[in-house]
Amino acid sequence: MTAVLITGANRGIGLALARQYAADAAEVIVCCRDPARAGALKELAASSGGRVRILPLDVADENSITSLKNALGDQSIDILINNAGIVGPEHQSADLIDAEGWMATLRVNALAPMLIALALRENLKRGSEKKLVAISSGLGSTGREPRSALNPIRYAYCASKAALNNGMHALSRDWAADGVLVAILAPGYVRTDMGGSGAVAHPTSISPEESASALIQRIAKLTPATSGTFQDHRGDTIAW
Ligand SMILES: NC(=O)c1ccc[n+]([C@@H]2O[C@H](COP(=O)([O-])OP(=O)(O)OC[C@H]3O[C@@H](n4cnc5c(N)ncnc54)[C@H](OP(=O)(O)O)[C@@H]3O)[C@@H](O)[C@H]2O)c1
Repeated sequence: MTAVLITGANRGIGLALARQYAADAAEVIVCCRDPARAGALKELAASSGGRVRILPLDVADENSITSLKNALGDQSIDILINNAGIVGPEHQSADLIDAEGWMATLRVNALAPMLIALALRENLKRGSEKKLVAISSGLGSTGREPRSALNPIRYAYCASKAALNNGMHALSRDWAADGVLVAILAPGYVRTDMGGSGAVAHPTSISPEESASALIQRIAKLTPATSGTFQDHRGDTIAW
């Protein structure tokens, strides 16, 4: 049975990924900051016949990452999905930079996926698929014009996703000898809390379910040739 671990699984894209992997008969470890308040995950776990397990994880807290590792022990993980993310502080335009907020955004979106990957490296190596997935964003691209549909540009968020991409690309090279494959995926413009009213109004936005379904296809099709590339949910390459 494929074992999948998903961070930030209590709502949005993470929840849709959890539901679809559970429906595909995978063993799903769903992580969230506050399991006691994760009603949708509790429902999913209750109807899963024991295949869905909820574990606490605040990705910004290194002790929490260590606790997750301890809870997992040497359990194998086939697919590790770093999905948890934040859009960052209110003030991150060129006119007003919130320095603390910028650092918090980098920690959650860029540093945490690295620390989680490193903490769970042995679990991943024990898995048969050995797939490390980062849910990035097209806004992490500096090669795509227009860089941002957002006005003003969210400097901290864009920088954090570019840093995430860089770290994950490096891991795809450093861990290739272990057979680890790395997917760096932009999920589309998705109607979640993060997507907000902009996504609701946007003609090309997609639902969390559509995004999750497309991401799962990308993950299934990940090969050594595509490991470490930056793709959108449709499989189109995004310029770094
Ligand atoms: N929606 C879009 O259009 C879009 C576009 C491009 C990329 N993305 C990326 O897709 C991913 C999922 O986004 P979404 O749209 O589903 O966002 P969302 O609805 O806002 O959900 C974000 C998830 O991340 C979790 N999270 C945030 N900080 C965390 C922390 N410190 N520890 C653990 N979990 C934390 C949240 O948990 P809490 O409930 O505890 O806050 C929530 O489960 C993110 O990485 C985002 O950057 C989204």
